[in-house]
Amino acid sequence: MPETASSKLYKKTIPERLDFLKQACGLDDADLVLLSKTGTLGLENAQRLSENVVGCYELPFAIATNFVVNGKTVLVPMVIEEPSVVAAASNAAKLSEGFDAKTTEPLMIGQIQLVKVKDFSRAKKNILKKQKEILALANRQDSTLVKFGGGAKKIEVRKIGSGKKTMLIVHLIVDVRDAMGANAINTMCEKITPVLEELSGGKARLRIISNLAIYRLATVKTVWKKETIGEETIDAVLDAHEFAKNDVFRATTNNKGIMNGVDAVVVATGNDFRAVEAGAHSYAAFKGKYRPLADYRKNKNGDLEGELTLPLAVGTIGGATRTHPLAKLSLKILGVKTAQELAGIIACVGLANNFAAMRALATEGIQRGHMKLHAKNIAVTAGAKGEQVEKIAAKMAQEGNVSVSRAKELLEKEG
Ligand code: MEV
Repeated sequence: MPETASSKLYKKTIPERLDFLKQACGLDDADLVLLSKTGTLGLENAQRLSENVVGCYELPFAIATNFVVNGKTVLVPMVIEEPSVVAAASNAAKLSEGFDAKTTEPLMIGQIQLVKVKDFSRAKKNILKKQKEILALANRQDSTLVKFGGGAKKIEVRKIGSGKKTMLIVHLIVDVRDAMGANAINTMCEKITPVLEELSGGKARLRIISNLAIYRLATVKTVWKKETIGEETIDAVLDAHEFAKNDVFRATTNNKGIMNGVDAVVVATGNDFRAVEAGAHSYAAFKGKYRPLADYRKNKNGDLEGELTLPLAVGTIGGATRTHPLAKLSLKILGVKTAQELAGIIACVGLANNFAAMRALATEGIQRGHMKLHAKNIAVTAGAKGEQVEKIAAKMAQEGNVSVSRAKELLEKEG
């Protein structure tokens, strides 16, 4: 492919990129002013996080309240563009009896794919026999991690596929402590590969972290009392849960509601939400059927117990967690010292959002709550400004007719 002006964007300075964009996309000076507003992140930091940067993109930074996790009150920063999520989380937390959060050790899996292996059982035996030496080699790549109690801990060997496509997959299990872990694991996997090739007689292909972090789980629980939410609501939530357990279409949307809360905190703390999303959904299907991630039941008092377990590969060091000033600030607001504490809080927000969505859906529906903020968005889209926004939004919400065309009519009436 010939090198075009755009394919050389990475070589240009930011003003040159802006100039290029101006020409290529017909941007005007007002557009460039938008790109010049780089907020708290700033262009220097932005360029440490991505390539071909021309600006910074903002999202609402909000605080969810009322969370008591393991007896401690926490304020939870959430970055999300969707109306109602923060309010729903705060409200569900307020109605709850507080959350218990537990996490496993922060163990991640690195995978090495070995093809062209002739004798699988011999290869497996050879690798496991040299486990100690392989782990030591992996650990020499990250002395800091080892110093803090982390490092490569275990090797697993699996045979997958069939016939000529059979291959050996080696799992390197690494305690990544307070990091998300991808860099440490990928480096270790690459380093131990020549030894694995020699021991297996095979050829290595992929060497990469798995985002299905089955050994790095957060489990959270809470109770919503019948005196607080009413027995009918409890039955309605349990019916909603039964629906999700038996229907993949519903289970997917149910889990989306959990991820509304989870992702918002993951983003606020500068963590990799794609990794968390991928892990959560495959964990939901890990036992062979895609299921709701949370579980609900009535306890012996007739109260509602909710429990959520999900893999959470999040860190408090490395990547954007320390580069993005607001990510750093989020960790300060949360007051967390470790990645495990952070994972516990994130899971609590996921459970809170799940309960809030099910409660609303199973009772009055979610549109009424949603409409308040949505109506404001629609009013702005129709051209409302300043005080008009509130006025037109309130009118549309009251009429139950929230649409751009109705907002335009109301704007015209306003004159
Ligand atoms: C919307 O973002 C999330 C919900 O659809 C979740 C659910 O249906 O449980 C309300």
